[in-house]
Amino acid sequence: MIKRAFFIAIAIFVCVSFSEAQETFNYDESKVGEYTLPPVLTLSNGKVVANAAEWQSRREEILNLFRQNVYGRIPTKPDGLHFEMRRLDEQALSGRAISKQIRIYFTKEKTGPHMDMILYLPAKAGHPVPVFAGLNFKGNQSIHADSSIILSEKHPELLKNTNKPHDQLTRGEQAERWEVETLIGKGYGVATAYYGDLELDYLEGWKKGIRTTLQTELGITPEEWAAIGAWAWGLSRIMDYLETDEQVDAGKVIVHGHSRLGKAALWAGANDTRFAAVISNNSGEGGAALSRRWFGETTNRINTRFPHWFIDKYKTYNNNASALPVDQHMLLALIAPRPLYVASATEDLWADPKGEFLAAKNAEPVYTLFGKKGLGREEMPPADTSIGETIRYHIRTGKHNILLFDWLQYIDFVKENLE
Ligand code: GCU
Repeated sequence: MIKRAFFIAIAIFVCVSFSEAQETFNYDESKVGEYTLPPVLTLSNGKVVANAAEWQSRREEILNLFRQNVYGRIPTKPDGLHFEMRRLDEQALSGRAISKQIRIYFTKEKTGPHMDMILYLPAKAGHPVPVFAGLNFKGNQSIHADSSIILSEKHPELLKNTNKPHDQLTRGEQAERWEVETLIGKGYGVATAYYGDLELDYLEGWKKGIRTTLQTELGITPEEWAAIGAWAWGLSRIMDYLETDEQVDAGKVIVHGHSRLGKAALWAGANDTRFAAVISNNSGEGGAALSRRWFGETTNRINTRFPHWFIDKYKTYNNNASALPVDQHMLLALIAPRPLYVASATEDLWADPKGEFLAAKNAEPVYTLFGKKGLGREEMPPADTSIGETIRYHIRTGKHNILLFDWLQYIDFVKENLE
């Protein structure tokens, strides 16, 4: 048995290495080549959408195309969904915040699958506040050094054979990415949960994740969707909780995510219109970046390296992205007319910053139908300059990450668009 697993692992490694060795990645703008994007406003019957009311039918078509070809189906919420307050701290972060640690049970039973979220709210708001909601990579305890954050039960570090306690390894480890104090200080709430509570991020993570454990409740088989879909689904369950909390302005919940979690945030925002605004931070291939542009990561590479992220059908477009009936500008268009922010980083060429900018640019016609302004310029802006109105974009100097500069732009964006 162990031997068999070993040989399978070796075979997968060899296949991935072989396909990567075969593939050349392009970072030269002059070699991108020609491509034609599927027209966002043309219905399958050839009719061109002329106004916001007509957009609804095209929106349904596009959503279904993404479900059938890229991310899979996305189920609705299970009947037994319920919440349990695990820890309430009215004096969190030295009195600046209220923190609520809530277990979201996906079924009636307390023994069933669940996700643990933490919600920080400004202590003295006196009114319901807008909330930034996003998943985290390393467990809730990683977003802040706050020792009252309950350790994630599922974080893989836990499983490692190490002498260091989980606590020391991960607490506050990703604090730089979360800016909890900044957000609280400006009057916003922060909600997050560990993405591994939904599905651990490796080839066979689905076996213990919600795609397996909830298949009966949700009426969907594991291969009808994939990890990005499962993570996006989890974001909607955070929203389910936020709708019940009187200290939250549920009409102003902003879904956000970095990198693979940016892909999940976009997919959540596309499906679930309760999210009032959507932020994609360096989401790249399979997120905000155009698939047809040959620059940085490719469809082939993402499907080979991360086969569990997308449904099998998506793999039929490996080395043939131009056959896809969609491209990622259409995913961004599904957010319309809600505010959308796409952000890149200068050293994150793998995510194809220009492809992210162009996807945002090509989503504009849909915003125009609603009388909303998009980016307002044809060329990419200089680094560290935010442009646009209802659609915004910036390219931050530096690496693939989400940092204070990004957050400050997101705060302005929300202030100007939602308040
Ligand atoms: C890899 C992957 C990207 C992804 C990124 C991340 O680089 O190729 O598609 O966005 O990981 O999630 O950090």
